[in-house]
Amino acid sequence: MKFLHLIALLILLFGAKTQISAHEESPLSIIPAPVLLTPHTGNFTFSTKTRIIVSPLNSETRLSADLFAQLVNNPSGYSPVISEGKKPATGSVLMILDNSIKNDEGYTLEVTPKGITVKAKTAVGLFYAVQTIRQLLPVEVEKSALVHRIEVTVPACTIADEPRFAYRGMHLDVGRHLFPVASIKRYIDMLALHKMNTFHWHLTEDQGWRIEIKKYPKLTEIGAYRKETVAGAQKKTNNTFDGKPYGGFYTQAEVREIVAYAGTKFITVLPEIEMPGHAIAALTSYPELSCTGGPFEVRKLWGVDDDVFCAGNEQVFTFLEDVLTEVMDLFPSKYIHIGGDECPKKRWEKCSKCQKRIKDEGLKNEFELQSYFIRRIEKFVSSKGRNIIGWDEILEGGLAPGATVMSWRGEEGGIEAAKSGHNVIMTPGKYTYFCYYQSENHDGQPLALGGYVPLELVYGYNPTPKELTAEEQKHILGLQGCLWSEQIQTPEILEFMAYPRTFAIAETGWTADNQKNFEDFVTRLKILNKRYDAIGINYFNGEYRDTKALKEKK
Ligand code: ACM
Ligand code: ZN
Repeated sequence: MKFLHLIALLILLFGAKTQISAHEESPLSIIPAPVLLTPHTGNFTFSTKTRIIVSPLNSETRLSADLFAQLVNNPSGYSPVISEGKKPATGSVLMILDNSIKNDEGYTLEVTPKGITVKAKTAVGLFYAVQTIRQLLPVEVEKSALVHRIEVTVPACTIADEPRFAYRGMHLDVGRHLFPVASIKRYIDMLALHKMNTFHWHLTEDQGWRIEIKKYPKLTEIGAYRKETVAGAQKKTNNTFDGKPYGGFYTQAEVREIVAYAGTKFITVLPEIEMPGHAIAALTSYPELSCTGGPFEVRKLWGVDDDVFCAGNEQVFTFLEDVLTEVMDLFPSKYIHIGGDECPKKRWEKCSKCQKRIKDEGLKNEFELQSYFIRRIEKFVSSKGRNIIGWDEILEGGLAPGATVMSWRGEEGGIEAAKSGHNVIMTPGKYTYFCYYQSENHDGQPLALGGYVPLELVYGYNPTPKELTAEEQKHILGLQGCLWSEQIQTPEILEFMAYPRTFAIAETGWTADNQKNFEDFVTRLKILNKRYDAIGINYFNGEYRDTKALKEKK
């Protein structure tokens, strides 16, 4: 046995403590980069006497204290006692709510060899401070199995921090492929670690209806499953079809579990119910809601279907209001996403009910009919005290009052909406769609939807277009990365496509534009990769730069 191995064995056997020095070798690596960060000399070292003192100690602030105690406990084997109080104590952590912090999500952090002090306006800020501290703790805090018995230290520093945007989101399409509850929770964990605050859950699609609706059981009995054929056209997109039906859905109990789990991490789950298009799974279950009466089949191919909800049929609005009522009961979010994208007008042009609606309502054309549809739904949703979000097609034919626009086909929709006083979330596909390749070289990459969206391109995106005045820019609530799952068949591929591009979105959402620097981001990312290894996520670790742009520059 080599001498070093013998020492390691003795340490394990006798529980001696080793000094972790990873962060002494490296700069303080935090993503998203804090607004103000001043490193000092020395460390704060946790001991069995360390307490976490919280003021006030309530169900919300306790979430951060519990998480902090758990992180310390993982590698050390002891958990700091949590108590209520306002006075700092040598060797302890003080976490207090303080109205002198202006931003609702902001915080200050002071780490000295004598103690740690965290101040925030709200419990959310305390939570984000703990995410910052977490990234400064030894990576062993990420592993719950107690094998290390190491000394837990935090490098001395002063931080003052707050986000640039109020909306910092990631989307996930579970219509084309769905993922286990555990994998959705891991996704939420990664958003929380990077101070993102919204999980946009795309729950209904042509290829599958994924949320249990008690009043309409056929949505999941029929609409949650598609027939797959080995010889189907999708085979060329590399799907491993074995001829068995593909599908599944989330029960209302599972939905509540995910919403509650996200809530403990101060993440809002934004549900999306697609209308009037992307509705074949619903129409297969209830063909009477279509223009033609069907019959239909849950869509096996990707792409856009001509059959959509009939805009002339009152039953459609009763159905959607019933569905949205159950959805609003499950999701406490301020916003409900109603889709609105990619709705062909072909069936409406030929449908006598749709044409009668156009005539009765004095509408000019089918685009105004789509606008009528969305306005009606918006009126219903706002009567329940919520607001709608829709993809940028909801601008066509006139935007519903109170609607927020998600600009995906570029920034133009977002610019138009902001100029007319509507709020906007930027998700232009060219920069924020993670279904596209992140490497120019596809060797060893899972199949993607084509395209090229490397990390550098994502990182460089600034969601406040120059075309907008400073006043209009205030309507840009933030940005979001989108993960469409046509090619994403497994949780492992999901993680590979999501990370680290999600972390670039997180930094753009949080860190001031003039503070952002790609080289610096990559340096921090490479250090954090050790943490991601400890957590066990499957991230892309290849060429981060935009090699295509580099070549074009030459
Ligand atoms: C979309 O990508 N159809 C919003
Ligand atoms: Zn119709």
